[in-house]
Amino acid sequence: MENHMRDHILAPIVINKLQVPNRTVVPAMVTRLSGEDGYVNQAIIDRYVSYAKGNVGLIIVEAMAIHQSKSGPLLRISDDDFIAGHKKLTTAIHAVSDSKVIPQIIHFMKVARSGWRQTIDMLSEDDIRAIIRDFGDAALRAKEAGYDGIELHSAHAYTLSSFLSRHNKRRDRYDGRSLEGRLRMFGDVMAEVRSKVGPDFAVGVRFLADEMIKDGYTLEDSRLIALRMAQLGVDYISLSVGGKFEDAIKREGLPPYPYTGYSGERCMPGASFPKMPHVHYAAAIKELINSKGYDIPVISVGKINAPEDAEQLLRDGKADMIGMARQLLADPNWPKKVAMGAEDDIVRCVYCNVCKQLDEKFKEVTCFLWPKKYLQAPDYDPMGTAPVWADEAALSASYVDGVVKLKWQKATGEISGYDLYRTEDHGEVTIIEAKKGGKFDDKSVLGGLTYSYYIRAYTKSGQNSAPSNIIKLDLPMEEFNPQESVI
Ligand SMILES: Cc1cc2nc3c(=O)[nH]c(=O)nc-3n(C[C@H](O)[C@H](O)[C@H](O)COP(=O)(O)O)c2cc1C
Ligand code: SF4
Repeated sequence: MENHMRDHILAPIVINKLQVPNRTVVPAMVTRLSGEDGYVNQAIIDRYVSYAKGNVGLIIVEAMAIHQSKSGPLLRISDDDFIAGHKKLTTAIHAVSDSKVIPQIIHFMKVARSGWRQTIDMLSEDDIRAIIRDFGDAALRAKEAGYDGIELHSAHAYTLSSFLSRHNKRRDRYDGRSLEGRLRMFGDVMAEVRSKVGPDFAVGVRFLADEMIKDGYTLEDSRLIALRMAQLGVDYISLSVGGKFEDAIKREGLPPYPYTGYSGERCMPGASFPKMPHVHYAAAIKELINSKGYDIPVISVGKINAPEDAEQLLRDGKADMIGMARQLLADPNWPKKVAMGAEDDIVRCVYCNVCKQLDEKFKEVTCFLWPKKYLQAPDYDPMGTAPVWADEAALSASYVDGVVKLKWQKATGEISGYDLYRTEDHGEVTIIEAKKGGKFDDKSVLGGLTYSYYIRAYTKSGQNSAPSNIIKLDLPMEEFNPQESVI
């Protein structure tokens, strides 16, 4: 059954010659499911088929290396030997849905446990020629493997992004002191890739709308970078922010990792950030390139997960497609549930970043909301039974020392966890946390305001119980007495 209230998110879109069935995108997310050998295995196939079964419009397969360099468990497309595995993956995806699937292809520099890292100013002209050639070869392999296009990884801490960066220290054709100089490497790569795959194969790019580091570039440059990419013939633009080495936290005996500093936090904004902190980037970039006559899709990303928000962004023309990385990891059936009018069954990501931590430790990336030991998201059973509350007053709360302490009695049924809903001063209802057990301390409350809480138990398939009893608390303002303060 079609849901007409969501006609923007469910509308098809064309990318080059590709018919993408709807506006949802799962952006690249490293899974750490491949072995160190970099081959596609069954766990990788299962992960991406789950997005296809959930009717995600565009599936971007995690960053895969185009060169031989060592780097823990990471997919590879650096040799013809890898093509057969990728072919299996694309065949499996195309067999279950009309989702389109595109790999993100990446070149990265060397890093060492000592903290040393190679930077682009160390590359010789031969090295640069090899990188350009490797991108072209990998793109052609992707085409041979049955992918619907490729995405050039020009974001975060990696090689192409480092050329675009204001921290680019080269002083030659790729001179970091001018925007044109910083853009030249991307132009060279794009020309090589096009010459290999032809004009009709979708070539997208992911790059940073803001480097989120001191002396890095911001929207002032990224609007022009986007325009140049459009002029160079990219077929879509997927935005990200941050994720740089420059502010990475040094960890003894471990190679530098670009998601440990503040820019890394901005890249995958956690629960402490407001929702949708980066949507203005896509809106500004889309406005500029559209005004210059380019109508390639712009993908917005970053803590977007409510269907009504996604729909509104598209309706307002602030983006052409909606990227949801962690939300679709949590529940790959999001698009299917929206199309069925079963939005209440969506398992909502709470941005706890457990998945990010797993990636950081090179462990298989799973979601905290899935039942324990699950390697993949549970299937959706539309007929599943919702849990019920045995106790009418299941939820209780107390306010102690600036903290609201919530406790609840278990619901009955096949429970996967509990979502905690809160309103602040009668405002919007938000899910502030998901818990497996029966208590939670809310430490982000302000005295003098009114808070209401309720919880809902959910099953692994996403069915929710009715809301528990509602607890309303008028929090007192603390009294401040200079005599009692500790100085
Ligand atoms: C576990 C994990 C792995 C990621 N791997 C990649 C990657 O391979 N390439 C990439 O461009 N972004 C990667 N990202 C960033 C996401 O694509 C996305 O931009 C980010 O999570 C913000 O979107 P969200 O709020 O919808 O999750 C990764 C994010 C996570 C959580
Ligand atoms: S682990 Fe946390 S942040 Fe990651 S997808 Fe699951 S709920 Fe979202």
